[in-house]
Amino acid sequence: MRCFVSGCAGFIGSHLVDRLLSLGHEVAGFDNLSTGRTQFMAEALRNPRFRFAEGDLLETDATARAMADCEFVFHLAANADVRFGTEHPTRDLQQNTIATVHVLEAMRETRAKRIAFASTGSIYGEAQVFPTPENHPLPRQTSLYGASKLGAEGFIEAYCEGFGMQGYIFRFVSILGERYTHGHVFDFVGQLQEHPEFLRVLGDGKQRKSYLYVQDCLDGILAAVENSRAKVTVLNLGTDQYCEVNQSIEWITEEMNVRPELIYAGGERGWIGDNPFIFLDCSAARALGWRPKASIKEGVARTVRYLREHPELFGAREGGFLRAGGSA
Ligand SMILES: NC(=O)c1ccc[n+]([C@@H]2O[C@H](COP(=O)([O-])OP(=O)(O)OC[C@H]3O[C@@H](n4cnc5c(N)ncnc54)[C@H](O)[C@@H]3O)[C@@H](O)[C@H]2O)c1
Repeated sequence: MRCFVSGCAGFIGSHLVDRLLSLGHEVAGFDNLSTGRTQFMAEALRNPRFRFAEGDLLETDATARAMADCEFVFHLAANADVRFGTEHPTRDLQQNTIATVHVLEAMRETRAKRIAFASTGSIYGEAQVFPTPENHPLPRQTSLYGASKLGAEGFIEAYCEGFGMQGYIFRFVSILGERYTHGHVFDFVGQLQEHPEFLRVLGDGKQRKSYLYVQDCLDGILAAVENSRAKVTVLNLGTDQYCEVNQSIEWITEEMNVRPELIYAGGERGWIGDNPFIFLDCSAARALGWRPKASIKEGVARTVRYLREHPELFGAREGGFLRAGGSA
């Protein structure tokens, strides 16, 4: 199959490219390298079945050109940092909602009919039911990121209805693993490498979050694409575990062999729009035969090991690691 992958140089997208190539597919990757890195595509770039186009989804012609002849679109490019929403109020709308409409328009132009989309558990805002199922009543939105992803989901559903496309919408919890470059584990490892004697923690450390290892996330995406024939499939992807931020700090400090003093910013939220509890009901994805293999603790440990081997990744994201608290 010929696949288009937007966000192919990013954390999850670059792993997806490697996986699709290993399964024998041809891949057209598209990325503006705003947060993505060429080093994450090193292996793919040596593969003759991979072609990379550097470009921006906000440029419709470039997007359609790169998508030519592709049957399946994996749309992962986005502004994936939930924390900075209120500092850049139109960024999520542009990068997450409008860019998605551009992808859908490029699909109309090129006649690609199937799309998989990386949405987020953040669309549940402050959910009332835990674990939260896909059919949770439409909640009040608490972040511009979540709202922009929910808007994108709506456009995908409407294009599927209006133009005979097939859509797969995946609402991920936070993803962990090799090539991870944003989120709280990144923040904590960066801080501890710089000053192992203390650690600044956003909120009170009691936020409860669920995490999923990146290869398990890919298994979930591919299981759905292979096994679900619905016009639109909406699936949560996460583990059936959650942990307190404080618990993850214990795992990280154990892995790094440091004993820092913990300095809490206070309050039950890490930032405006942070959801103090994220835990998704993933039984629908499990019914398709998917099971995550790594526990949250294993995911954290692998991520810490990878980050320690790649100090060059720190300082690259907006505001440096000290502000990179929220991935969603
Ligand atoms: N990482 C997580 O925990 C997580 C959780 C839930 C959902 N998601 C979603 O999964 C997807 C991938 O996230 P990630 O963690 O790999 O993020 P990432 O920032 O590592 O990857 C995003 C990629 O998209 C590219 N990009 C951004 N805007 C672009 C544009 N306008 N045109 C072309 N390329 C553009 C970036 O350069 C980057 O390579 C995103 O849609 C994100 O919202 C991620």
